[in-house]
Amino acid sequence: MARRRQIYEGKAKILYEGPEPGTLVQHFKDDATAFNAKKKGVIAGKGVINNRISEYLMVRLSEIGIPTHFVRRLNMREQLVREVEIIPVEVVVRNVVAGSLAKRLGMNEGTPLPRSIVEYYYKSDALNDPMITEEHITAFGWATPQDLDDIMSMALRVNDFLSGLFLGVGIRLVDFKLEFGRLWEDDQMRIVLADEISPDSCRLWDMKTNEKMDKDRFRRDLGNVEEAYQEVARRLGILPESGPTDIKGPAVMQ
Ligand code: TMP
Repeated sequence: MARRRQIYEGKAKILYEGPEPGTLVQHFKDDATAFNAKKKGVIAGKGVINNRISEYLMVRLSEIGIPTHFVRRLNMREQLVREVEIIPVEVVVRNVVAGSLAKRLGMNEGTPLPRSIVEYYYKSDALNDPMITEEHITAFGWATPQDLDDIMSMALRVNDFLSGLFLGVGIRLVDFKLEFGRLWEDDQMRIVLADEISPDSCRLWDMKTNEKMDKDRFRRDLGNVEEAYQEVARRLGILPESGPTDIKGPAVMQ
C-alpha cells in the first residue's frame, strides 16, 4: 500500500488520511500512558483488542440510533472513520465513585452514586485536562447550549445502553469517557460520537469479584493488564477463538 499521510498522532492512536475525502483511518497502538503521559508503557496486543471492542460497542450504539464516526473495521489494528472536528471536551459519565472523583471529594471507591453524574474536562495535555462546567464550554464557544443538550442526552443514552450491555456479561460499568465531533453533511452539522470506547476509556469491574478489568490495572500496577483486556473482549464474544494473531510477547512491559 502507498504510504499514507499521517494526520495526527495521539498517545494511543494514530489518524491517517482515509481512502476517500471525509474519511480517516484510525490506527490503535499498544502504547499506554497514564497521568498525562508521566507513566508510559506498552500493553501487548491492546491495539488489536481495543479496535475490536470499540468497533463492537460503536456498532451496537449506532443500532439504537446514536450517531457515531465509525464506518467499518479495516484490519486487526485499523478502522475507517468519518472525519470530524473533535469538540475539545472530554465527557465523563459516572455510576460508581472511583478515580479522580474519589480523590477530589474524599469518597470511598466503589460507593454507588445516587444518580449518574456527567462531568466535563477541557481536552488539553498542556493544562492536564482541567475539569470545566457548561458555563466555560458555552462562554468560550467550544459548544453551544443546543450542542451540549445533544451531547448530554447522547452521553446518558450511551450510559444506559452500555451499563445494560456490560451487566449482561457480568461487568459493572463504573465510569467512562466519551468524545464527540462535528460532522458536516450538505451544510448541515451533526454531532456524533467519536474517538473510541474501550478498557482504556472505561472503568469495568467484574460484578462478582469487583476485580478491575480496565486501564486502572496499568495505572496502578495491578498486573495481568493484557489478560484483563482480553477477558472483556472474550465476555463480549468478540475475541477470535485463536486469539488476536499479531499479539507479540507476554504481558506488560514498562
Ligand atoms: P477519572 O476518574 O480519572 O477522572 O476518569 C474517569 C473516566 O475517564 C475513567 O473511566 C477513565 C477515563 N479517562 C480517559 O479515558 N482518559 C483520561 O485522560 C482520563 C483522566 C480518564
